[in-house]
Amino acid sequence: MLLLQQLVLITVFGGTAIVHPVVFADDVTEPAIVMVSGMGERNGTINTTKMDVKTTTTMPEPREDECVHHGSGVASVISPYNVSTTIERVLDVVRNAGFTVFARVNHAQLAHDANLFLLPNEVVMFGSPAGGTPFMQDSALMGIDLPLKAHAHEDTDGVVHLSWNEPSYMTTRHGVSADDAMESRTTRMTVMLEQLMNEAVKGE
Ligand SMILES: *[C@@H]1O[C@H](CO)[C@@H](O)[C@H](O)[C@H]1NC(C)=O
Ligand SMILES: *[C@@H]1O[C@H](CO)[C@@H](O)[C@H](O)[C@H]1NC(C)=O
Ligand SMILES: *[C@@H]1O[C@H](CO)[C@@H](O)[C@H](O)[C@H]1NC(C)=O
Repeated sequence: MLLLQQLVLITVFGGTAIVHPVVFADDVTEPAIVMVSGMGERNGTINTTKMDVKTTTTMPEPREDECVHHGSGVASVISPYNVSTTIERVLDVVRNAGFTVFARVNHAQLAHDANLFLLPNEVVMFGSPAGGTPFMQDSALMGIDLPLKAHAHEDTDGVVHLSWNEPSYMTTRHGVSADDAMESRTTRMTVMLEQLMNEAVKGE
């Protein structure tokens, strides 16, 4: 029995989403392939009531170069590196691409300093004024979500995820104009982020 309300991971291949059942649902043992008609929606929300479920017996192996879109404006890739190495690689990749790194925050270290425990968890902020300014000229509140962020964390299974905010989610959130120029900037930012993050988690 697949409980759609409890799905956490959705890997998108074109219009087909591979849905991985959650770990905390005892009775869920089989993954399902789900056609998601709402995936094209600009705000990235997934209306599970629109899903047409077909069960399948094989769980596909996750591949490093495939993004997981969480349906909450966050995209992720799995990293074969630990969190600190993943972040170091992100810093190299974004600097090589000409971006400025504005901040690096090690949440787990800060937690440790406050006598709290947190699995490895770090975030970096990076960007380029030339790339980001047009978004803020269009909607000043884009400044809440810019500079861009890359976040790495280790989950309870020891898997490291590299995640970022999906540009279309941010632009919808802040009502950025849906004209051709801004749509094209948003698309370029989306492609650029996916390329940079995939480069950062690429094998040696
Ligand atoms: C998300 O998109 C759907 C379909 O375009 C729309 O009905 C809904 O109001 C949007 N939600 C937000 C929060 O923008
Ligand atoms: C989800 O889709 C169903 C069927 O199209 C619709 O009745 C329902 O209002 C939608 N819910 C949301 C939150 O958009
Ligand atoms: C992360 O991996 C690197 C390279 O393998 C290693 O040198 C480093 O000690 C690791 N860091 C942690 C916190 O495990």
